[in-house]
Parts: sequence; structure tokens; C-alpha cells
Amino acid sequence: MIKAKHVIADLDRRQQSGAAFEDILQAAVRGLHDLDDRFHWTGIYELFPDNVLRLGPFIGAPTDHVFIGVGRGVCGTAVAERRNINVPDVRLVTNYLACSTETRSELVVLIRKGERIYAQVDIDSHQVAVFDDRSVARVQRVADWLADLYESRERLGRAP
Ligand code: SME
Repeated sequence: MIKAKHVIADLDRRQQSGAAFEDILQAAVRGLHDLDDRFHWTGIYELFPDNVLRLGPFIGAPTDHVFIGVGRGVCGTAVAERRNINVPDVRLVTNYLACSTETRSELVVLIRKGERIYAQVDIDSHQVAVFDDRSVARVQRVADWLADLYESRERLGRAP
């Protein structure tokens, strides 16, 4: 377990020391994963201009869902509806794309600046209803930090 403020302090240090964008993302996924022992799969999907989410760094079992179209699954629906999605029990959701048969709850938090959606944090847990308000707020803090990172990268003219 680690606190969100410590994850952010670590990411700040990496950014200030000139770490590569990909290395910072990898560290962010590690930090997010370590926020809670009940997070069993943690990854970042990046939104590309063709309206497809592509899996970036992740921790946990490999998934078949490397590409997800906007509107598909929980991940694609979050982008289509421009909102975070917290699923207490994936067995009750019809549009869920299974990453692992063990997954019970899932959280998607958008990495965004206003209307501009850059990516999303996707976290799965083997336990039902893991993502309470406090836990969502902690993930949101890191996602907001990442939104600043994506925005500054975009200003430099780099995709996505
Ligand atoms: N469950 C997601 C797919 C991603 S895997 O969980 C890693 C969805 O329904 O979009």
C-alpha cells in the first residue's frame, strides 16, 4: 500500500529529472497498482484519433483486449459517455469485456483536460465493490497528474 501523494511525489521527481514519457507512465501504473492490495490488474489505455483505445503499460495478467473501440466494453463506454465508470460487480454488466474470469469489480477513470480525453486508467479487482469514494479519489489524483503530463506532451506536438 502506498499513498497517492507519494505516488505523485515520485512522478514529479521523475519528470523533473527528465525521464522519458513512457517510463513515467510505467511508474504511474506501478504507483496506481500499489495504492491498494485489492487492485489485481492496473493499466492505461490511450485514446487514438481513430477512436480506438490501445493498451499501454499494465500490471497483471495479459489481456486479449489490447484494442477497444469507443463505445465497446466498460472502457469504450467511458470514453463514449465522457465519464468515469465504477462497476461494483462486472457479472451484472452486459457490455463488459472479460480480461480475467476472476474479475469482480472494475474502475475506469478518464485522463482528461475538460473535453479532451487523452487516455484512461483501468483497474480490476477480484473482489466485489472495491472502489469506494476514497479509493476512486486516490486514483483520480494520479489520473489528474497524468492529464497534465499528456497535455504538456501534446503542446510539444507528440501523439496521441
Ligand atoms: N473490462 C474492460 C476490458 C479491459 S480488461 O478488463 C483489462 C472492458 O469491459 O472494457
